[in-house]
Amino acid sequence: DNPIYILGIESSCDDTSASVLKNNEILSNVTANQEVHSKYGGVVPELASRAHQQNIVPVVQQALVQANIKKEELSAIAFTKGPGLMGSLLVGTSFAKSLAMGLEIPLLDVNHMQAHILAHFIKNDTSKIPPFPFICLTISGGHTQIVKVSNYFDFEILGETIDDAVGEAFDKSAKILGLPYPGGPLIDKYAQKGNPKAYKFSKPKVGDLDFSFSGLKTGILYFIQREQKNNPNFIKENLFDICASIQHTISEILMDKLKNTVKQTQIKHIAIAGGVSANSEIRKRLQLTEKHFGWTTYIPKFEYTTDNAAMIAITGYYKYINKHYSNVSVTAKARLKV
Ligand code: KG4
Ligand code: ZN
Repeated sequence: DNPIYILGIESSCDDTSASVLKNNEILSNVTANQEVHSKYGGVVPELASRAHQQNIVPVVQQALVQANIKKEELSAIAFTKGPGLMGSLLVGTSFAKSLAMGLEIPLLDVNHMQAHILAHFIKNDTSKIPPFPFICLTISGGHTQIVKVSNYFDFEILGETIDDAVGEAFDKSAKILGLPYPGGPLIDKYAQKGNPKAYKFSKPKVGDLDFSFSGLKTGILYFIQREQKNNPNFIKENLFDICASIQHTISEILMDKLKNTVKQTQIKHIAIAGGVSANSEIRKRLQLTEKHFGWTTYIPKFEYTTDNAAMIAITGYYKYINKHYSNVSVTAKARLKV
């Protein structure tokens, strides 16, 4: 059998990424991160679109060179159709359509949130591949969902956030502490040197398997304002403990909901996905459930947690072998359900 070569393109937010897959195996995964946003405390959509425009051709070229593949050898082009920032999505969508048309090969539109989950099916030696059905906790800068995955294209949302995503909870907390965007990785880093029980933040009361993080953010804001009034150096002197306590609270909220999910569904194959699944405490606590509750856990390789095109390419691969081609008149969608 001839191998299938898929080029994946991701441009939904602030990372321009391209990846080449040979069947389910990664040959390259190249990402240009956009530094421009850090001083604004969040992604500036207009700047993101411009940076994608600048990065997309060199990133795709580099992915092809690293994979040692000529574009004429590609079997199909997969791209992120949504959800995401419209201006950012348009750059990847237009580029993918044109290239597929030029090469006269199939075009595959990919749902970014499905792709975060299907990243678990990228062939690699270190992590296990989840069997169907499994539960995936998808945690990113824009989404927080508990998804039942019954097949490659059969997803059911069992719970989700009613306000902020968990990544926003990390980033907004970091902003309150004066840390640059995205603050999630920094909170993770500082938390490692702090006491997770130093401060207590109240956990939200929200129904069933849903989440809410906006109250936590406000709670942290008021707490910091109060303490800073008493001691203007409060943040500086206690940064590690504050970060550890915030991270601990967020991890507890997530783990509580996962325990309820297992109770309700009786499914004990549990995966995590999305940018926040890079978090070291969340990874560690999930792993511990193997020993404590007999769950089997699936923790993605670090490079497939935050936005990347490898996850778009693997989703494209499954669409390709199932002949789920898309029409060239397909359009980007800022809002798109998994
Ligand atoms: O999946 P992703 O790259 O983009 C979206 O689709 O949103 O997720 C980005 C989010 C950001 O909020 C970032 O702060 C968070 O993932 N993040 C982390 C860590 N690494 C990335 N949050 C906590 N701990 C980390 N180590
Ligand atoms: Zn993402």
